[in-house]
Amino acid sequence: MNAPVLAATNLNTFYGPSHILRDVSFHVGPRETVSLLGRNGMGKTTLLRTLMGLVKPRSGAISLHGEEVTGARANAMARAGLALVPENRGIFPNLTVEENLIFAERAGRGGRRDWQRNKVYELFPRLAERRKNWGNQLSGGEQQMLTIGRALMSNPDIILVDEATEGLAPKVREDIWRTLRIIAGNGVAIVVVDKNLKDLLSLSDRHVILAKGAIVFNGTSEELRSDPELVHRWLGV
Ligand SMILES: Nc1ncnc2c1ncn2[C@@H]1O[C@H](COP(=O)(O)OP(=O)(O)OP(=O)(O)O)[C@@H](O)[C@H]1O
Ligand SMILES: [Mg+2]
Repeated sequence: MNAPVLAATNLNTFYGPSHILRDVSFHVGPRETVSLLGRNGMGKTTLLRTLMGLVKPRSGAISLHGEEVTGARANAMARAGLALVPENRGIFPNLTVEENLIFAERAGRGGRRDWQRNKVYELFPRLAERRKNWGNQLSGGEQQMLTIGRALMSNPDIILVDEATEGLAPKVREDIWRTLRIIAGNGVAIVVVDKNLKDLLSLSDRHVILAKGAIVFNGTSEELRSDPELVHRWLGV
């Protein structure tokens, strides 16, 4: 395999006295799409937040493009090529769609500016139509599209996507899956957390399952599909 873009080794993360992530080792290769699965409360969001530098691991190491970045803050992680699409969406309600995008704009590593507003509007024509609307006038699906668009405006090498389709109508979900595929096709590596196993099996190259903060499975779609007992044990479906 090519050298990983993102590599985490033996991460241990705590919230106060609670030991959440337990010796988690996780890597993402260039252009790879990896899904992160697990039941509620198993540590998926905590892993994304730890990778993004929003939570400091108590031990373990994180490297981006082979460079050690353990303990770096989120803004430094963003400069190093990582972007988070958070669960709570986090757009600015009092800025327009266009202003939300402009505000998030920055060059990627090596000054790369592949993603500009027009490209985001091409990906999400709905956002182009709504460009003068305030953040708080958007539907749930439009907010989610804007959150993804904002992440792309930082020209990341990897985006971490937390439950992007949650609470959305089936047709809007389909839109989100389709755009994640296009983003992957543009060479951006993706780590995606979601509850829809069927969609993840067709989107992702590899799947990692977390149970009680530890990794219990790391394998391909074929491996996961051929082991319904494993799927039932760790995901309850
Ligand atoms: N800020 C916090 N302070 C203390 N405990 C927390 C905090 N955030 C999460 N936890 C706990 O950490 C554990 C892992 O939570 P996390 O949100 O990472 O799980 P998750 O896999 O993303 O779950 P879900 O599928 O519900 O989103 C849970 O037991 C949760 O209660
Ligand atoms: Mg979560």
